[in-house]
Amino acid sequence: MSRLSTAFFAAAVLYALVGMILGMFMGATQDFTMRPLHAHINLLGWAGLALMGAFYGVAGAKAPARLGWTVFAVANVGNLLLLSQLYKIVHGRPPIVPALMAGELLVVASMALFGVCVLMAGRRAAS
Ligand code: HEM
Repeated sequence: MSRLSTAFFAAAVLYALVGMILGMFMGATQDFTMRPLHAHINLLGWAGLALMGAFYGVAGAKAPARLGWTVFAVANVGNLLLLSQLYKIVHGRPPIVPALMAGELLVVASMALFGVCVLMAGRRAAS
C-alpha cells in the first residue's frame, strides 16, 4: 500500500474515532445538539477520506502522487475549518464566516481535484 493511501486511512480513522465517541456521548447524555457535527465528521472525515484512500491504494503508481498529496492537504484543512465552524453553529454561536466559506470551498475543491486524479489514473491505466 502506498504512503499516500496509508495517510488517507490514518486520517480517516482519527475522524472516525472522534465522530464515534461524539455519537456515544450524544447517546449517553440524550443531548443530540451535535448531531450534524457527528454526521459531518463521520461522512466527510471517515467515509470521504477512507474512500479516497481506497482509490489511491488500488490505483497505486497510476495515480498522480503530488496531486494526491494536494488533495490530502486541501481536504484536511477544509474539513477542520468547516467542522470547527459547524461546532459553533450547532451551539448557537455565530461562525467566523470567512473560515466557514474557506472550509466549504476547500472541501469542494478537494473533491474536484480528486476527480482529476481519478481521470488521470484512468487515462494512464488505459494507455
Ligand atoms: C460508535 C459509532 C456511532 C455512534 C455511537 C453513533 C451515534 C449516533 C446518534 C446517537 C445519533 C443521533 C440519533 C438521533 O437523533 O436519534 C446519530 C446520528 C447520525 N449518525 Fe451516527 N453514530 C455512530 C457512527 C456513525 C457513522 C460511522 C456514521 C457515518 C459514516 C454516522 C452517521 C450518522 C448520521 C448521518 C446521523 C444523522 C444526523 C442527523 O440527523 O442530523 N454515525 N449517530
